[in-house]
Amino acid sequence: MKATAKAHTNIALIKYWGKRNEPLILPTNSSLSLTLDGFSTTTSVEFRENLANDHVTINDETISGESYRRVSGFLDLIRQTAGEKHLYADVHSINDVPTAAGFASSASGFAALAAAATKAIGLQLSDQELSRITRQGSGSATRSIYGGFAQWQMGGRPDGSDSYAVPIASQDHWDIRVAAVVLSDTRKNVSSRDGMRRTVETSAFYDGWLGSLADDLEQIKEAIMDRDFEKTGKIAEANCLKMHATTLGANPPFTYWTDKTVAVMQTVQAMRAEGIPAFFTIDAGPNVKVLYLPENEKTVEKTLRDIPGAEDVILSKPGRGVSFL
Ligand code: PMV
Repeated sequence: MKATAKAHTNIALIKYWGKRNEPLILPTNSSLSLTLDGFSTTTSVEFRENLANDHVTINDETISGESYRRVSGFLDLIRQTAGEKHLYADVHSINDVPTAAGFASSASGFAALAAAATKAIGLQLSDQELSRITRQGSGSATRSIYGGFAQWQMGGRPDGSDSYAVPIASQDHWDIRVAAVVLSDTRKNVSSRDGMRRTVETSAFYDGWLGSLADDLEQIKEAIMDRDFEKTGKIAEANCLKMHATTLGANPPFTYWTDKTVAVMQTVQAMRAEGIPAFFTIDAGPNVKVLYLPENEKTVEKTLRDIPGAEDVILSKPGRGVSFL
């Protein structure tokens, strides 16, 4: 009972920011992302009769503590679904996501783990069922089941049965690019889980955020279908700014930005003023991801590399969904 799967991370253009149910990982809003080919995780899972507990390595190192509990807790859910309560697994995971890039390796990590583990234990799941189960490992991972553009539908049922991602357009639909600008000070002081919780519970701006999402989602889907880069980028950038504004309205207030984050944001806006269409988006950390078109790759990369404090710039194309090796 062994299976190996590969999944890519994704960047949210409409952010998931808040849970309505923490244990089930049910979001307060629907979100939309682009899966990226540059960053992946490959995971093999083997369930064996003679194991007394799970054994997990990431990049050849055995993990323990909170990271182990998260993986093992997620495998419990898969065991329960398969009716195999006492079957433990050997898990080997290789991350091709530079951790410093500030991309949640949890998105590709849990998508690859979910695909490999459900297959290895003998479950035959549709993409939708796989996406739903993946959600309980990591929220953003639910979208990485699909290549290209995917939407995580928040759903409304208390048991989460209607909260999963659906494909919007494949990776071949539109060749837009993403540059990840890696900044020198990448210390993350508030985890996405804690940041979301604090914002949902205390932010004076949270209702405003929620109230603007339906329109953002509808408009960006239209823009993606039309391959309208200006419109897609504009909505993504504004949505990112609104999400980050909620953290400033929280109690106590916090921000993921550093002076370098702001420097990259301003450089991107200056590029636009010079006639190069480029837009930024930022997750729960200081690094910035820049959306651009292939024909502007050279200029965009050079401009970003020249920013003081930019340690690296990693370029990515749209990536494919989960696959079995
Ligand atoms: O699923 P998590 O805990 O990695 O949270 C992801 C939150 C954001 O990256 C900020 C937004 C998103 O939709 O990916």
